[in-house]
Amino acid sequence: MCISCASWAKKIMNNEKRIILTGFMGVGKSTVARHLSYLLRCEKLDLDAFIEANEKRAIAKIINEDGEARFREIETENLRKILQSDARIIALGGGAWTLEENRKIIGETGCTVVWLESDFNHCWQNIRLSKRERPIAKNKRHAQKLFEERRKYYCLADWHYIVRPELNSFELAKKIIEEVFL
Ligand code: S3P
Repeated sequence: MCISCASWAKKIMNNEKRIILTGFMGVGKSTVARHLSYLLRCEKLDLDAFIEANEKRAIAKIINEDGEARFREIETENLRKILQSDARIIALGGGAWTLEENRKIIGETGCTVVWLESDFNHCWQNIRLSKRERPIAKNKRHAQKLFEERRKYYCLADWHYIVRPELNSFELAKKIIEEVFL
């Protein structure tokens, strides 16, 4: 390992910061979280996956069977639990950060919140191509309305990164580390 890489790695490893990724559905939060956890050699958790493991049901099933309001309660309960874990990287579901109660809970932990933003068409394309059902984004018109309504909440994050086609998600994760951790 070269000297500059070694000092880079040392600074990062000694940094105890925890990162929470937020942003609209389909922006790529889980992928960036995976790269961050690889680069930082630390544990990452995905709130949706955590909920599914605890509830033993897919997110779409919870929303379709119990309704969105109940899903949000379950999401908040699991957010509290996930924040008590040792995971240094946490990827939220796209709606979690938009609720005031969740922002308050996160604020109390001192985690650094990073908003991944991209244009709506990028998100919509990923939503359409994904195998995961997203009952909250049933059609393009509704999803776009939600996308616009949520910007004001995402803006409240500590950091803001724009997902651009010329910067792949691995490069983006490296950029986040360099700016947030160093
Ligand atoms: C939601 C986003 C989803 C999931 C649920 C609700 C939302 O997560 O939590 O379907 O309200 O934006 P992703 O952002 O990972 O798709």
